[in-house]
Amino acid sequence: MKKINENKEQKDKQNKQEKNNQNINNSTKAKSNVLIGLQYGDEGKARVLDKLAKQSHVIARFNGGANAGHSLHVGDKKIVLHQIPSGIFYPNSILYIGCGCVVNPLKIKHEIKDINNNDICIKNRLKISSKATLVQPHHTVLDSLHGKTIGTTKNGIGHAYSDQAIRSKGNQLKNLRFGDYCADPNKAKEIALTNLNEAIAENKLTDVNAKEMVEEFHKEMLNLIQYHCNDPLYLEKLAEQNKNIFFEGAQSVMLDVITGTVPFVTSSRTLSAAAYTGGDLSMRHHNKTIGVAKAIMSRVGNGPFVSEFGGERSEAYCAKDGGNAHKSKFEKANHNVDNILKSKDQFEMGIGLRMLGGEYGATTKRPRRIGMLDLVMLRQNCKLNSVDELYINKFDCLEHFNKTSLPGIPLVVAYELDGKEIDFMPANVEESKRAKPVITHLPHITTDISQIRDPKKLPKEVNKLISFIEEFTGSKMYGIGVGPERDQFIQLREHEN
Ligand code: IMO
Ligand code: MG
Repeated sequence: MKKINENKEQKDKQNKQEKNNQNINNSTKAKSNVLIGLQYGDEGKARVLDKLAKQSHVIARFNGGANAGHSLHVGDKKIVLHQIPSGIFYPNSILYIGCGCVVNPLKIKHEIKDINNNDICIKNRLKISSKATLVQPHHTVLDSLHGKTIGTTKNGIGHAYSDQAIRSKGNQLKNLRFGDYCADPNKAKEIALTNLNEAIAENKLTDVNAKEMVEEFHKEMLNLIQYHCNDPLYLEKLAEQNKNIFFEGAQSVMLDVITGTVPFVTSSRTLSAAAYTGGDLSMRHHNKTIGVAKAIMSRVGNGPFVSEFGGERSEAYCAKDGGNAHKSKFEKANHNVDNILKSKDQFEMGIGLRMLGGEYGATTKRPRRIGMLDLVMLRQNCKLNSVDELYINKFDCLEHFNKTSLPGIPLVVAYELDGKEIDFMPANVEESKRAKPVITHLPHITTDISQIRDPKKLPKEVNKLISFIEEFTGSKMYGIGVGPERDQFIQLREHEN
């Protein structure tokens, strides 16, 4: 009898162990992909995500806030999302805002309204992590006052992350997280009011109505409570049920708060590895890193941009009156594109390229600074972010170089710093200012590629350019954008999920 019992116990133990093993194995079947921008933002991350994330159950943000501007095209309509992940068109997908993000309830309300107006329902789909930090009213007030040197988007991003790090000042709590508000809205409201009153007093502001602002903030927070996700294992559980997760990076690698062009950066971590610390998921589910770049680069705000057409002159021109002096309307009224493109002055040629490429901020409408494709930067960022699949948008815009006085498509292949050639980007602003791009030219693209969808039909100049980029960066190219429409895209290799 004893023997039989012992045998049964042993069998039960074995079964339990097997079941455990099965669970553990199951938990690694889910795949999570991370998509990031490889330059200074605005590379068209959302349109690549739109192509690749269809099989994902969750689309998640892991960094940043309303400073991002991700444009999605529905028919002839355009929705610009700032905080809500770009998966709104996949009817059943979960839209997750992770702990690494900063959430502004006053701004997100407009996004939700815009989405609802387009007959898209996100009621049971949007989830906001308990641990995401709130952008409080005083953060945006302070950013408007102090963000000029960096040229911020005035969304209070830096001040929110800074209060997150500082936590408290004496007895006063500075940071509020989404879950803190949900746990005790009235107490949280008092904290937000104290913080705003302090900012008003310290900066001697006379035109801010603190009570009204905080009341509005409170009202919107109460509306958002329905999206609260208080389970720290929420994504982990979905992954264990083999649901795929797609992380959508905001801002980009060069704007990373530590490794970007400091201090001219945003305030969050933007690298691929940050997806897991800011996305409430363990990294054992990681599958692929997808990197997105733009064929003619752009940058908004101040800071180093070695390959910029017109250098410091362009930077100052784009920054004039906080970026408001030379918006699209002004440039259209003042320049003939064909003439200005032919100019031997690279600053003027840059204006022409901006006009043709429609390079004006999605959030702020500021003119974006324009520069040639920097392959040194691209290689460095592909390597440091372990990019498995490289996508380059606006490839069609390279055709515009054919209408300029340049001998071919310009590409940066090294830097010259203080008389020496280097194969990496200088790590600080002063060196970046002194660095000169070493340029190579590849043959012009002379035919219209915007209607091509089959990679086999691409002209030889384009294939040559693609091979050159792949060889230089060591990353395989998977796709190119050839126009603003959703279908103006050529998949060069099959995306492997
Ligand atoms: P997406 O996700 C481009 C820039 C700002 C400024 C600097 C700091 O659309 O690519 P912040 O408001 O973050 O404190 O501003 O960072 N910046 C972006 N530039 N695209 C973005 O996001 C950006 N988010 C912030 O212009 O120079
Ligand atoms: Mg943007």
